[in-house]
This record gives sequence, C-alpha cells and structure tokens, in this order.
Amino acid sequence: MSRIPEKIHELTVGQLSARSGAAVSALHFYEAKGLIHSRRTSGNQRRYGRDTLRRVAFIRAAQRVGIPLATIREALAELPEERTPTREDWARLSEAWRTELDDRIAQLNRLRDHLTDCIGCGCLSLKSCVLSNPDDALGEQQSGSRLMRERR
Ligand code: FES
Repeated sequence: MSRIPEKIHELTVGQLSARSGAAVSALHFYEAKGLIHSRRTSGNQRRYGRDTLRRVAFIRAAQRVGIPLATIREALAELPEERTPTREDWARLSEAWRTELDDRIAQLNRLRDHLTDCIGCGCLSLKSCVLSNPDDALGEQQSGSRLMRERR
C-alpha cells in the first residue's frame, strides 16, 4: 500500500480505494448514499478530503459487524457538521450497537440450533419452522390469529 504524503490534502478515488481497501464501486456507492462526499475538479473528477479515509474505515468497520448502511448514515448524520467520527464517537456508537448485535447473535444461535430440523425438510411451515418464522412471539402465547380476535 502506497503512502500518501502529508502535504496532500485531497485524494483521488483510486488513492482512497487503495488506502482504505474499499473497492472504487463501493466508494461510489457510499457517496451515492450520502455517507461520504467529494468535490469535483474542473475536469469533473472526484476529490476526497483526507479525513474521508477515517470515515470509510468507520463505515467498513460498522458494516463488518452487520450494521445496516441506513443506521450508519443516521449515526454519521448526528455528528456535528458531518465531521469525521473520532475515537470517542466510535466508542459511543459501537456501545449503542452492541445490544442490537447481541440480539442478532441470539437469533442466529436459535436458527443454527433448529436448522437440523429443516435440513432435507423444505416445508417452511409458518407454524413449526423456525427458519420460516423465527420471531413468532405471538405463536408462543397461543395458536391461531390472535390479532384478528383482539380487533373484533
Ligand atoms: S423447513 Fe421444515 S421445519 Fe424448517
């Protein structure tokens, strides 16, 4: 990976890709989704501020642990003047996302534990298949359409 001299304050999309490890197409996607920003040169080429590197690192770290892009965008939008996330920002946000991750891990563990019943089955029953209906909280309380009865 080539080093970028300190005096260079803006990066081309290729430099940003090489330094961040994100594909150029991913960077274009992040930009289209409003997660990163660039300015255009007179030749209509993108230039990214050097701090975009940290922003991309933040996005990729969050994606790696399964945080949806919409949630990442909301988190970045909360930062004052859309500044680049600091170490403290990451610590605060990752703490807030921990519960969400714990829930997802618990759900995946449940799915894994019940997967054996599904292998070779294929029924995808809403009544008995945990893959087909993993969060059937109402079903645990009683069978049938409880919501319909409650609305009457
Ligand atoms: S596919 Fe039949 S129980 Fe899941």
